[in-house]
Amino acid sequence: MALAAAKSVPTVVSNGIRIISQRANSSAPKVALLGAAGGIGQPLALLLKQNSSIARLALYDLKGTPGVAADLSHIDTRAQVTGHTGTNELKAALEGADVVVIPAGVPRKPGMTRDDLFNTNAGIVRDLCDAAAKTCPKALLAIITNPVNSTVPIACEVFRKNGVLDTNRIFGVTMLDILRSQTFVAELKGLDVTKTHVPVIGGHSGVTIIPLLSQTKPSCKFTEEEAKNLTTRIQDAGTEVVKAKAGAGSATLSMALAGARFVEGLVNGLKGQKNVLCAYIASDAMKGLDYFSTPVELGPNGVEKILGTGKLSAYEQSLVEKAIPELKKNITKALFSKKEEKRPKQPKSVELLGEKLLEAVENVAGELHRDDADAKKSTKRDLIAKLTEHEKETFHAATDSQVEEMLSDKNIVNILSGASKQKAIPASRAAEVRHARRGLLLLRREIFYQAKQSGYSASDARAIAERAVAAAEARSIAQHTEKETKRTTELEERIAAERAANEKEQKFYDYAFRMADKMLYPEDYRTGAAGERAEVTIQPDPKVKNIFSLDQPRLGIFNEDNLSKLKDHSLQFWADWDAHAARTWNQSFGPTNGFEEMIDLTEKGKMWPYPIDNEYLLGEEEDVGFHEHIFLERTLSQYKLPKSGPIAHFMELVCVGLSKNPYMTAEKKRSHIQW
Ligand SMILES: NC(=O)c1ccc[n+]([C@@H]2O[C@H](COP(=O)([O-])OP(=O)(O)OC[C@H]3O[C@@H](n4cnc5c(N)ncnc54)[C@H](O)[C@@H]3O)[C@@H](O)[C@H]2O)c1
Repeated sequence: MALAAAKSVPTVVSNGIRIISQRANSSAPKVALLGAAGGIGQPLALLLKQNSSIARLALYDLKGTPGVAADLSHIDTRAQVTGHTGTNELKAALEGADVVVIPAGVPRKPGMTRDDLFNTNAGIVRDLCDAAAKTCPKALLAIITNPVNSTVPIACEVFRKNGVLDTNRIFGVTMLDILRSQTFVAELKGLDVTKTHVPVIGGHSGVTIIPLLSQTKPSCKFTEEEAKNLTTRIQDAGTEVVKAKAGAGSATLSMALAGARFVEGLVNGLKGQKNVLCAYIASDAMKGLDYFSTPVELGPNGVEKILGTGKLSAYEQSLVEKAIPELKKNITKALFSKKEEKRPKQPKSVELLGEKLLEAVENVAGELHRDDADAKKSTKRDLIAKLTEHEKETFHAATDSQVEEMLSDKNIVNILSGASKQKAIPASRAAEVRHARRGLLLLRREIFYQAKQSGYSASDARAIAERAVAAAEARSIAQHTEKETKRTTELEERIAAERAANEKEQKFYDYAFRMADKMLYPEDYRTGAAGERAEVTIQPDPKVKNIFSLDQPRLGIFNEDNLSKLKDHSLQFWADWDAHAARTWNQSFGPTNGFEEMIDLTEKGKMWPYPIDNEYLLGEEEDVGFHEHIFLERTLSQYKLPKSGPIAHFMELVCVGLSKNPYMTAEKKRSHIQW
């Protein structure tokens, strides 16, 4: 959403006399900041707003940009600020951009490496770069999002795929490593930090960050120990901030300043003021690597010259050797992260048209060219091609929806993948949960019978059964979780205390524990080869009496004396349990009432949403006017058909028929006539 701030707003400043026009100079650069509402994005936006060379500043993020843009737009500097929120407004943010800066993505939390961010951030950078490649392919691109070692190769691949790659225009921002190096060196050597220069080469994570202390200006000497300590501190400086922020993100303020300085370098270069900065780019500066950071000369087209690493000390050379395998790994990961896009398999003509239709085509072609085999072949091919073209659309629509429906049924997927791999596949989690719930309900009933038979009153037996099953279920779940993390003695103590407190009911607990374990986690009872799941059948426990066998003493519940009790208690709790069982089972099987059913049908697109939208799911037809569906005769003129006679009459009928057909798109109607 372009804010009002995007318009030219004359601002009266505090002395009440001077009027500052925020009208931009159209030749001055536009900078688009993607991820502008984040920890880095906001302070970086503020610093860019202060850069008098920037004419337009487009702030884009998934959320929060209107506020940031409104806030910044009140600052009396030159750059016009616009806010753009959500993917629909990405194009507007990028249109006409000369520089695109990307700090969008998730930052590190304590204990994470930059590489751990790959899975989330790679996708974000890929999508944003795709939009940039399509909208402003000539812009200079500065990527802040980590892991920079991988996000830059990803960006280059996206631009390559769009056919607009110019590696001189794509940069990974490593500027913060330079700021840190200069600060730490100046601190150690008592230098004026504003006049201290330390180049940093390699990449932007851990061992790939290589400060060239031997090239420090003004030149200074470092002992071996000083060089090692400084290098380690510079390499770990990001982690130092992540730890200190204790889960609230990574470096934002220092990064914002580093980013602002980097953009300043790019913008100055655009204006023709050549300058030198370190950046991670596609480069041949290091043998065996396609991407490497070194000092580069910036100019109107981005990188003008890669200045190389310069002379390295023996220690720096050893750091480079350590960095190379790590960088290779990061770069390869980026390049092979994309799954190969498979082209959909084209259906065969017999699959599309069916044998009967093919036979008819054969006959027609045969009738038309009795003695000319070549002409017959060619007519047959033409007819099949025409028919196929018309059927293809229907075929795709039908097969797509069928496949979708099938894939939503996990059991079918299991059967299919099981059949192809000749190996049993675990049932879906939902099916397992359903199975376990059902088992626990039955177990509760069984324990009730056992307790009753052991002489407990009905209500006590019920309480025992409920407690035993609940405890067993909780224990099994806790045990399972524990297995994944670490078993704590606390849990064992709790179970022991539980057992001691219920010593009398011990056997019911034992039984429930065993059964619940088996039911909830049958995969723990594997018998097949490692990693394979074997069929599990829960066998009746021989130690448990079969209460249904005829030689067992009768329970004596159903004698006349007990009848009134049964009515008051037993029947009611059976009813309760049954209702509970029904509820539990129902949870696993779709909607439970008409209302939920309507929601379900609406979500599946089988019912119209309320309030009714007549154009719901119209798709491409939304933009087609009614007039395009009728009076189709006007499209006939281009085909040079006879104006009278049977063909004209036939085509008139076709047009009238088509114009009355509400189920066809206008385009399909036209292609029908053409055919
Ligand atoms: N290059 C460096 O030297 C350096 C230094 C520090 C941090 N970083 C990296 O910068 C990135 C941002 O860090 P932060 O602290 O600002 O994080 P943050 O979470 O505070 O902000 C990230 C912003 O990106 C936005 N975002 C997420 N996905 C988006 C998308 N698809 N399109 C547009 N915006 C999107 C979020 O809404 C959020 O506002 C992280 O990856 C971090 O690791 C790099």
